[in-house]
Amino acid sequence: MPELSSTPGLLAYALRNVTEVAALAACRWIGRGDGTLGDHAATGAMRNELNKLPITGRIVIGEGEKDEAPGLFRDEQVGELTDGPAFDIAVDPVEGTSYLAKGLTNAMAVIAMAPKGAMFDPGPAYYMEKFVAPEAAKGKVDMDAPVDDKLRQLAKAQSKSIEELTVFVLEKPRHIRLIEDIQNLGARVAQYPAGDVAGAVMAAIPDSGVDALMGIGGTPEGIISACAVRGLGGVFHARLAPQLPSERIAVTEAGLDTEKWLGISDLVRSGNVYFCATGITTGLLFEGVEPGESRSRTQSLMISGESGERQMLTTFHRNEDIAEKLNTENAHA
Ligand code: FBP
Repeated sequence: MPELSSTPGLLAYALRNVTEVAALAACRWIGRGDGTLGDHAATGAMRNELNKLPITGRIVIGEGEKDEAPGLFRDEQVGELTDGPAFDIAVDPVEGTSYLAKGLTNAMAVIAMAPKGAMFDPGPAYYMEKFVAPEAAKGKVDMDAPVDDKLRQLAKAQSKSIEELTVFVLEKPRHIRLIEDIQNLGARVAQYPAGDVAGAVMAAIPDSGVDALMGIGGTPEGIISACAVRGLGGVFHARLAPQLPSERIAVTEAGLDTEKWLGISDLVRSGNVYFCATGITTGLLFEGVEPGESRSRTQSLMISGESGERQMLTTFHRNEDIAEKLNTENAHA
């Protein structure tokens, strides 16, 4: 049996256990009005599966701080080994808690992993401005140019007309002007109230139906997405964009630069990245958990930067196995 940690494809494959179980735990809370309960359940399940991985892992990006959600918290140690291959881990047990609470599309459980020290540390910044596009746009879009120039450059890089472009933008008051600018130029905007990890992944995959992601979203989601985009070979630029008054103060006090655009190699300093996401509710990337009489189905997207592979996996889980994992291992379920 090959060592998981020395076989990139196998490690990516092992990660799917983590997000599948989190999605299965969270799906009990779809449409029940309280995303926190789903987050608790998914987090506990995720932690248990993470502790079975043959790695020495450290959580560097968790959701806890921004949303006062239950851990996994920054600096928490995870993994089965104390002296195994050292990885930094970014998690979002439920990306799109509002979707989960409201029973809407696009909630997912997601994880990204990179060698120790490889992920950018956003410090106290909760928000960043993001620009994501497929590989064809590499080096062809000037981040300091106005929106219309960026879109012209993007269209040219992808050999498309402006009218053929679709840009994913979170539907937020802060994006009213951006959305108008994109639409006035003739491009389409795909607006979603939450969930820009899915938008970033779609934007990095050529001909996915989304040609770019623009606008301001969470930094945890940004780093997670950057790992996926690095694995996909796409373009990811970001700069810190604090939105909350306390965040602005903390970012200034920490001396962080909010003008400088960071590239993918600044955000994830290794190509040896892993990303895995499992649908909780059906969305842009995959279908959600579908409970069945004896088996429940999940769909996951796995990306391995090392092998350059992207895989979609449909798994039919025996319900008794799920019950065992969630009841005996998930304290919050
Ligand atoms: P949840 O907190 O509901 O999981 O939402 C996640 C998300 O929509 C991310 O995808 C996005 O990056 C971020 O929140 C945007 O934050 P905000 O909703 O505070 O603008």
